[in-house]
Amino acid sequence: MPTPSNQPTRVRLEDGPQELLSKDAWSAAVAILREFHPNLTFDYLQQQQGRGLRVFGLVQDRILVGVATITTQLHLSEGERPWIEDLLIDPAHRNQGNGERLFRHVVDSLHNEGAQRVLVRTREENRRAIKFYLRMGCELSGPAFNCK
Ligand SMILES: CC(C)(COP(=O)(O)OP(=O)(O)OC[C@H]1O[C@@H](n2cnc3c(N)ncnc32)[C@H](O)[C@@H]1OP(=O)(O)O)[C@@H](O)C(=O)NCCC(=O)NCCS
Repeated sequence: MPTPSNQPTRVRLEDGPQELLSKDAWSAAVAILREFHPNLTFDYLQQQQGRGLRVFGLVQDRILVGVATITTQLHLSEGERPWIEDLLIDPAHRNQGNGERLFRHVVDSLHNEGAQRVLVRTREENRRAIKFYLRMGCELSGPAFNCK
């Protein structure tokens, strides 16, 4: 697998939001995820697939322009709860409704699979993301403690 660049990459997929299942698509996802995770490699991402990581993406004109990564956390009453770890739209493709398109697809897919709730992580200083999630109808539920 070639080392992915940091540029949005052409993929052999139909346009639209979808779960990414091929190695090529995961490799293209690395380029977008590097904005948040500069040292991320394809091999590392793929290793996490064995731990339940899923990757969704948004394809536009055969280019991958956005990525969402999903992990799960066990809750003893609710069962496996999906978390949106990262939601990233390539900077050149922001403010065009792409974040909303990808987010809605991910949340609808997870609800259709039986998830009662979909949780999202973001840092409290990420005002743009907080504004985005509030606009998506997400509710803030309690503080998270960062324990060192
Ligand atoms: C947060 C993020 C995913 C939003 O993606 P996006 O594609 O810009 O989202 P949208 O286009 O759906 O909405 C963004 C804004 O564009 C506006 N917009 C949507 N379609 C538009 C259009 N056709 N024309 C003009 N504006 C439009 C929306 O109303 C929204 O405005 P607001 O911020 O004033 O509410 C994106 O900014 C991003 O990738 N940020 C960096 C990573 C990050 O922080 N991720 C979240 C934490 S994990």
